[in-house]
Amino acid sequence: MKMKTESYKSPNQQLIQLIEIVGKEQSHLSRIPGWWPAYIDNPQIAIPQIYSGLTQLRQRVQKSTPTLLDCGSGDGTVLSIAALVGFAHTYGIELNHQLSCSACRTEKALERQQVIPQGGNSLAEGSYYLSEFIPTVEQRCYDHLKDLFSADQDEGGNFESFVHQFLGSKRPGDAATHIQRFLNPRPELKPYSTLGIIDTQTARLITDVVYIYPSDPFFETAFLPQAVQLMMPGAVLAVLSPEDDGFQTPSAFSQEPPIPFTHTSQGTLNLQVFRKRDML
Ligand SMILES: C[S@@+](CC[C@H](N)C(=O)[O-])C[C@H]1O[C@@H](n2cnc3c(N)ncnc32)[C@H](O)[C@@H]1O
Repeated sequence: MKMKTESYKSPNQQLIQLIEIVGKEQSHLSRIPGWWPAYIDNPQIAIPQIYSGLTQLRQRVQKSTPTLLDCGSGDGTVLSIAALVGFAHTYGIELNHQLSCSACRTEKALERQQVIPQGGNSLAEGSYYLSEFIPTVEQRCYDHLKDLFSADQDEGGNFESFVHQFLGSKRPGDAATHIQRFLNPRPELKPYSTLGIIDTQTARLITDVVYIYPSDPFFETAFLPQAVQLMMPGAVLAVLSPEDDGFQTPSAFSQEPPIPFTHTSQGTLNLQVFRKRDML
């Protein structure tokens, strides 16, 4: 009798298949605003570099079954590589419908080819800004835009139309409405509940790592304060950013040595690593 055995693929074979599948999927994607994946220039070179960067990130988590959430997971490539390097479960939240569908197709193809384990990735469409926090961060975003507007006064115009244009709003409304819609254009989608990643007792995010390659103008004003509230003590925030892109570390986090990630035509991208401090 023939025994069914688990097929074994070396990390190299897995990466080659992943690059092929991602490459095929990319050809279906037209240029999407805000879509700037870490591997954009040259997947053959960038994907192995990301594999190495995520391996180092995985080693920073002292757990046998670490989990990772990609905020703005795009076509899911980083999630799939995270699954390859040993994150036991990866979660993605993505606002863009086309990219979300692409991530699902890639995930299914990788599972079928036994490149990543079955059922280890969960994806949900929607905003990574949690509705509950939006009222508390909205004023900060408003003040941030006011500052930008004041610095840009030579241009003339009024604040409402500046915000309208700056946030690329498609519908009319006042500045606060534009900000709310920008942070969460589809509040009926509840990605955090869909994924089941908020602990109901502590109201904290259960994932050990939160990864983000920021592409929205409210990263410091809204995303970081939300991360301070949501992440559990000891959890790691990994922010992909250009080497010279400094931002103020919130006091709730301690900064750890960065991890080199990938080189693009725009320069080197590093993972800046922050660990949520224990509560005092
Ligand atoms: C620079 S891409 C990063 C893709 C992928 N995570 C990577 O590292 O290659 C940023 C992604 O964030 C998504 N995004 C921007 N704002 C978002 C939001 N509020 N909620 C969910 N996704 C968002 C964009 O649609 C885009 O796919």
